[in-house]
Amino acid sequence: MNAETIIKVVARATAFYFLPTPSSLGESLANDDLNYVEQVDVRGKTLLLRVDINSSVVEGRVIVSSRLREHAQSIQELAKRGAKVVVLSHQGREGEEDFIPLQRHANLVRKLIQREVSFASWDEDYKAIIRKLKDGDILVLDNTRFQKDESVEKTPLEHSRDKFVQELALVSDFFVEDALSICHRSHATVTGFCPLLPCFAGPALKKELDALQRLTDINDKKLCILGGAKPADSIKLLKRMLEGGKAGEACVGGLFGELFLKAQGISFGAKDRFFEEKGFTALLPQVKEVLEKFSDRLILPVDLAAEKDGKRLEVRVSDLPTEYMTYDIGRDTTELFKARIRQANLVVFNGPLGMYENLEFTIGTKKVLETLAFTKKCFSILGGGDTERALQVLGLLHEDFSHVSLAGKALLQFLSGNHLPGLEALKQFNHRKKPAGS
Ligand code: 3PG
Repeated sequence: MNAETIIKVVARATAFYFLPTPSSLGESLANDDLNYVEQVDVRGKTLLLRVDINSSVVEGRVIVSSRLREHAQSIQELAKRGAKVVVLSHQGREGEEDFIPLQRHANLVRKLIQREVSFASWDEDYKAIIRKLKDGDILVLDNTRFQKDESVEKTPLEHSRDKFVQELALVSDFFVEDALSICHRSHATVTGFCPLLPCFAGPALKKELDALQRLTDINDKKLCILGGAKPADSIKLLKRMLEGGKAGEACVGGLFGELFLKAQGISFGAKDRFFEEKGFTALLPQVKEVLEKFSDRLILPVDLAAEKDGKRLEVRVSDLPTEYMTYDIGRDTTELFKARIRQANLVVFNGPLGMYENLEFTIGTKKVLETLAFTKKCFSILGGGDTERALQVLGLLHEDFSHVSLAGKALLQFLSGNHLPGLEALKQFNHRKKPAGS
């Protein structure tokens, strides 16, 4: 760190120490170790706002997702409060087709918030551009992964020595992390600014953390409903949620639920080859372990829906094997899951429970989610990479649920009880904390 950066950082940290603490503001916070940007006056301050507007790109078109909408709201809110907002995000991964610049994203944000949004590539003199920003201005910087240091997994202190991190810190006042979805990575723009600048959680991140706090605040009748086609992730998640008390019971469906049936020694017939070919049978020892340990807390499928001549055919588990491939939970299983939802205080849904791309096999997921949406006394948290698409296909809205997380892998990590480097860095370098012993 050069002398100019050191002087600037020390001065800021000292001034910041005297801000009111979260509890003195009388707010209910998701996590007392974090500072929230809503608590500080940002007028005239230059904010580095780390969002995640990483979007699907179809034939060169950036698809407007909930992430883009949600982070656009954060950008707008901070600009309206008079901050000079410098937006940082990645897009895609190097070598893949969607590894593109953020110019189009900047245009979309402009349309969404009906406010001027400028863009600068890394080749431009972005420091000079940032210095010239006025209160309420918004600047989107290019894809952070175009910076070679960005995607290297390093500690916050190591990243704080990256050249572009130091340069940006020098022309900025605060760092604001707004995306839970990227907090599982210790990338330069996720953790590197925390040792250098007062750092805060932004509005979208606060929403996520407030919702997840319910997992701790609600004591009983906590249910998780897990499905999806990535059983290797789901098995770890299920185990940790049941062990850690984040869920009292679990309904298990989809391909994941079928593996539990296989672990009980049930033969599927036609689908057995599929399990073998995809390597899912290698997971059976882990599934068996969970089954033995938590048998009284698991609700498994009692029937399934198979495909016969393009149509749905209900099959009881006791009648397996079948010559047809199974793609959904059956009617009775759906009713079992719905009954559990009606009794629950909190439900974490990480599905889907069938192959939602085919209308015949969306029924299980749709009915379960509709029940969740209508059971208003139950706090519902939806997450997982496929959730957004599943909701679209099923014609359900985010507003139908208490919270739909924008995070995929990061949410799985959080629910599994793993530390997220992005959140840890915000806490560790919380400049407002009193020094030990004072
Ligand atoms: C996501 O889509 O989950 C986040 O944007 C993180 O992207 P990554 O998996 O490429 O790091």
